[in-house]
Amino acid sequence: MSTNQGFDTRAVHAGQEPDPLTGAVVPPVYQTSTFIQDGVNVLRNGHEYSRGSNPTRNGFEEQLAALENGERAFAFASGIAAEDALLRAVLRPGDHVVIASDSYGGTNRLLKDILGPWGITHTAVDATDLAAVATVVQPGSTAVLWLETPSNPNLGIADIPGWARLAHDAGALLVVDNTFASPALQRPLDLGADAVAHSTTKYIGGHSDVLGGAVVVGGASFRGKTLAEAVEFQQFAGGAVAGPQDCFLAARGLKTLGLRVRQHSTNALRVAQWLARREDVARGNYPGLPSHPGHGLAKAQMHDGFGGVVSFRLPTGEAAKEFVTATKLFGLSVSLGGVESLICLPTEMTHAPLKGTDREIPADLVRLSVGIEDVQDLIADLDQALAAVSHLTGHKVAA
Ligand SMILES: Cc1ncc(COP(=O)(O)O)c(C=O)c1O
Repeated sequence: MSTNQGFDTRAVHAGQEPDPLTGAVVPPVYQTSTFIQDGVNVLRNGHEYSRGSNPTRNGFEEQLAALENGERAFAFASGIAAEDALLRAVLRPGDHVVIASDSYGGTNRLLKDILGPWGITHTAVDATDLAAVATVVQPGSTAVLWLETPSNPNLGIADIPGWARLAHDAGALLVVDNTFASPALQRPLDLGADAVAHSTTKYIGGHSDVLGGAVVVGGASFRGKTLAEAVEFQQFAGGAVAGPQDCFLAARGLKTLGLRVRQHSTNALRVAQWLARREDVARGNYPGLPSHPGHGLAKAQMHDGFGGVVSFRLPTGEAAKEFVTATKLFGLSVSLGGVESLICLPTEMTHAPLKGTDREIPADLVRLSVGIEDVQDLIADLDQALAAVSHLTGHKVAA
């Protein structure tokens, strides 16, 4: 696949060649655990056992690597399985990880409760403050810097090239969780990151019908191995691979990623602009708004839009809790990135593991995953839900 081809062309064609046997335009789902050998260890096209390789998975991996401008991609059973595999592929007991404080709660739980007992320590830091990041990197023991931008759920924007410099000066790797932006809007490997992690459950799958994760690596080496070698071995030996049917769904979703994400971004910007004009909304977070503190940086490192997630604060936690049950089109649910709009209360739902810590999410913060529906319908839904909680926000509803 030529790297000169545009993003949408690669999305449709990379790793998705028609089946040479039948001419089927869509490559078949190789729903098989094992492969017939032509002699002892004489493999047909290199396939032996689906934990090691499977054509449906490999096609999706090739497609994703082409879109992230990576050397290789590896698909896993979930986003968190991908993160776990990447971290275990590169870390050794005694290593230290620096993580953006405003990052997915499950990544923090993985570091604290799974990798912590195996001798990995970590420090969380405000990702938007590079000077603060520099003070927590421990040259000699920090092996990985882990960044999420835009962040979840505050939509903070961090400087990927700046983080990459700090990582590389300390001999560490920079990993960027690119789930929120997706490669349609941001390609961290081009900005200096060494690896990208994804929950493909979100924008890549795009239809809320499949759970998956992926790691995409550039050409960096670490501890005497390329990242591709290290992650490939972990995928095979750890075994948390994505199944063929899940890879088929993720690959199908990925073909329309650009189209969908442009629509998500257009709708999200309109919703954020509308929220910004509301007196009963205390504060909105969307990097596409010029008032957002990270807007300039987002414009520099993202393209074609700012993503489909918007968060905002209502005057009280009570109002937020009632509001998220008052919408009709926005479904009350965790997750994001599907074609349908979803709403959630992070402090009680996605980010409940942070409750009671100094990183607790404010009780009045609401997160929207803005879908691809007609935006006027989405705004009308938010409008009626705000009217429904006006007794809690003090907002006067026009008669
Ligand atoms: C930014 C981010 N990274 C990783 C994950 C974990 O992915 P999964 O739920 O597919 O395991 C999530 C899930 O919400 C996420 O939002």
